[in-house]
Amino acid sequence: MKNRHASRKQGWKWALVSFLIIFLVAFGYAVLRYNVMKGVPADQIPLYVSNKAFALASVVLIGISFIMGPLARFNQRKFAHGLYLRKYFGVLGFGVAAMHGVISLLLFSPSYYPRFFTEAGKLTFSGELSMLFGVLSIFIFSAVAVTSLPSVEKGVHPRQWLFVQRLGYIAFALVLLHVTAMGWKGWLDASGWPAGMLPISLIAALAIILVLAARLLVMAFPRKR
Ligand code: HEM
Repeated sequence: MKNRHASRKQGWKWALVSFLIIFLVAFGYAVLRYNVMKGVPADQIPLYVSNKAFALASVVLIGISFIMGPLARFNQRKFAHGLYLRKYFGVLGFGVAAMHGVISLLLFSPSYYPRFFTEAGKLTFSGELSMLFGVLSIFIFSAVAVTSLPSVEKGVHPRQWLFVQRLGYIAFALVLLHVTAMGWKGWLDASGWPAGMLPISLIAALAIILVLAARLLVMAFPRKR
């Protein structure tokens, strides 16, 4: 019991410290790209610019949680002892993603996000698609996060639990669609990137592709029994 409390404390500590570091790096990048290079007014830092850092930080936290399994599969000695951290990174990543969803809805208007709207003030097709994928992914992630709680985990059959946990990969693929639908046009036009800095949506997409590829590799080389 004492041991479980100690590892829980350690788990939250690692996840929170990692979040702070990842968020600060992402926030610095966002301020440099949008405020310094693109001239977005400093008034928009508290929500509009920091929301980009929250979005990227949530992808990185969830990505770390998902890639630990494949890493431990290919290098057991180095990574297996850290597997317990998956839960903490995943749940924190979900919380940050939820915060990103709420902030996005607060700002959601043509003046903040002109690329999502037509002149008539309605969403464009890619705007609707992108938001649909975002909402679906947060819906699935919430089920994954709830079943990660120890009290819920105890009451669920292990196979059902694993099934819900694995849905997390589908939710992550939906986030890839969320950012691709909103960003692909900008990704193809590098001349529009301020000071050559990659769009945050592209950085997130590359991180998700890396994690999903690692998972596919594990599926392609199942453990010998
Ligand atoms: C209710 C669900 C969601 C809504 C309403 C939503 C909304 C948005 C909006 C409006 C943007 C554009 C932000 C900008 O250009 O400044 C965005 C970008 C983004 N979202 Fe979401 N989102 C949702 C869920 C998610 C989830 C679950 C994740 C990740 C786990 C995520 C990750 C991202 C990323 C990485 C970007 C790119 C940020 C950028 O390019 O600056 N979103 N989302």
